[in-house]
Amino acid sequence: MIKIAPSILSADFAKLGEEITEVEKGGADYIHVDVMDGRFVPNITIGPLIVEAIRPITNLPLDVHLMIEQPDNYIPEFARAGASIITVHQEACPHLHRTIQLIKSHGVKAGVVINPATPVEMIKETLSYIDLVLVMTVNPGFGGQSFIKETIPKIAQLHELRQKHHYPFEIEVDGGVNVETAKLCTDAGADILVAGSAVFNQENRQMAMEAIRRAIHN
Ligand code: DX5
Ligand code: ZN
Repeated sequence: MIKIAPSILSADFAKLGEEITEVEKGGADYIHVDVMDGRFVPNITIGPLIVEAIRPITNLPLDVHLMIEQPDNYIPEFARAGASIITVHQEACPHLHRTIQLIKSHGVKAGVVINPATPVEMIKETLSYIDLVLVMTVNPGFGGQSFIKETIPKIAQLHELRQKHHYPFEIEVDGGVNVETAKLCTDAGADILVAGSAVFNQENRQMAMEAIRRAIHN
């Protein structure tokens, strides 16, 4: 069963609580939280305070995507705030193994993210002990960008590697996922689809998610 993780980046922040309740009722599997620092990516979004504020209003796992430099400095705070999964960018972590251990030491699931231009080889050494690989299908920083199709072979490559070695990680994709692109990802082996604008820019979020699920099975 494919999971859908609506990204609250495209939600209405003036009524964030209602927005989260609506996607939870509509069948979302995770809440995807995009954290940006204005350094690793050219945008600034939200921090641990918001994670803490939304933790009590939903039963869904909070999937916290850190697009920040020096994430080790903030991982403990995001864990305390209630993150269920924390993903860090390979490009921001010179000591990736240490960062993964730090996430796990807080009892949080650990994921590694690769940008569109980063090959799978860069995270190969971590694949046996992480919970999730997030493949960016846009350059991170903003919602509503176009899907980069050249990333699809990386999803397939990860899927092949985990089958071959019996690795337990899930594969998540993020960026430009909609009714046109979702199937490309799941056919290649993706388990979790992040969708921001494809869900929150639609008036009926439940129907938006159902449309994505239907598109996968066509
Ligand atoms: C991009 C973020 C994504 C983004 C996805 O930097 O990591 O999670 O919100 O938005 P859409 O689905 O609109 O591309
Ligand atoms: Zn994201």
